Amino acid sequence: MSSPNISTAATPAPAAAPTSASWTPQASLAHRVSVIPANPFAASDARVAAAVAQGRDIINLAKGNPDGAPPQFMQDALARAAHDPANFKYPQFDGKPEFLDAAAHWYQAEHGVTIDPRTQLLAVAGASVGISATITTLIDPGDLVVLVGPYYPQYEGSTAVVGGRIHVIPALEENGFLPDLDSVPASVWDEAKLLILNYPNNPTGAVATPELFATAVRLAHEHHFVVVNDFAYAGIGFDAQPPISLFETPSALEVGVELCSLSKMYMVAGWRGGFVAGNAGLLRAIKAVHQQTSILMSSVVQVAGAAGLNSDQSTVRALAATYRGRYEALNAGLAKAGLELEPVHGGLFAWLKVPHDWDDADFAVWLLDKAGVAVIPGSDFGATGAGFVRFSLLEPSETLEEAARRIAAARGTAW
Ligand SMILES: Cc1ncc(COP(=O)(O)O)c(C=O)c1O
Repeated sequence: MSSPNISTAATPAPAAAPTSASWTPQASLAHRVSVIPANPFAASDARVAAAVAQGRDIINLAKGNPDGAPPQFMQDALARAAHDPANFKYPQFDGKPEFLDAAAHWYQAEHGVTIDPRTQLLAVAGASVGISATITTLIDPGDLVVLVGPYYPQYEGSTAVVGGRIHVIPALEENGFLPDLDSVPASVWDEAKLLILNYPNNPTGAVATPELFATAVRLAHEHHFVVVNDFAYAGIGFDAQPPISLFETPSALEVGVELCSLSKMYMVAGWRGGFVAGNAGLLRAIKAVHQQTSILMSSVVQVAGAAGLNSDQSTVRALAATYRGRYEALNAGLAKAGLELEPVHGGLFAWLKVPHDWDDADFAVWLLDKAGVAVIPGSDFGATGAGFVRFSLLEPSETLEEAARRIAAARGTAW
């Protein structure tokens, strides 16, 4: 006797799926895939990997990965959090209250800015998540995003994903790599939905002046667009005055969003943590988009991040001093090669104008081939970065000095 659940009656074979000789799954890809720009950092990784595979000894100054360890108290907080059953569960959608409270405390203590942790903050798994959530929230196909070039490539990539357009304002050497926002035609501002700033800046190392942020906020009010400051390098300043937050500008909270990261301040790029702060109405919408498109920031990282944000930030200040020392060591070494870095005010990178008549991509290849030093060509940060290369300061001073020695030795008559 057959089981009641198994039919012994002859069942018709399922109809064969239609086949087509010409169709491949790739034919079904969304249009947006074809407009996403290539990831320049992946190309750089591939160049370095190929050189290493040939047995070459490469000093990799192309990467943006912090080279140190997070403060011990944060590592301990994360380890303890891993044993707490409260953290076995999904975290709250917009962030654990203790993390959001700590971010609000950090804004108050470091920047004198009052942010409401419930309505003006969102925990995210890194500033990169904040970038894509914010752009997705604001940009429809065809909408205009204004960038300051050279720029962090994800701004262009995330805009492409949602079908937006970009307009790039150059940040010129003669203006200390800060943009002249008032020189941009009013018609551009009228069309813009979003202006993305990034100070301290990757790749140029420029930091914002109060005047720059005030101009951006005034234009945003006048022309009705949103201002974002990507504050991934908060706390990493080289000058006596620490890098300022967008929200230190009066009325910036009415038109602005700021993206903060734990990655660089606390050297936890692999933990994935950060927060988005800003106008409550915008944050409500960004939270809605984030809930549908991103994973939540891990509970244990939120606990450890709260420990960092609630601390006195002495570890961050010490880190900034270390990067500054490295910048000076690299600059002194490169002087012996007849090269001079641009002045840098914060962040993790140094920006070098390539010697006369060199194309920056060719110069980067030359440095890799002849000196065994990997850097990123400036044009990887958009056309306005052409003519420069970026060195990361994420190796000890001795390694940076060795890189400079190799460049000086390889120079010959190259410039
Ligand atoms: C300007 C800028 N924004 C955002 C990020 C990404 O930060 P996170 O690690 O928080 O995603 C980086 C990382 O290098 C960056 O340079």
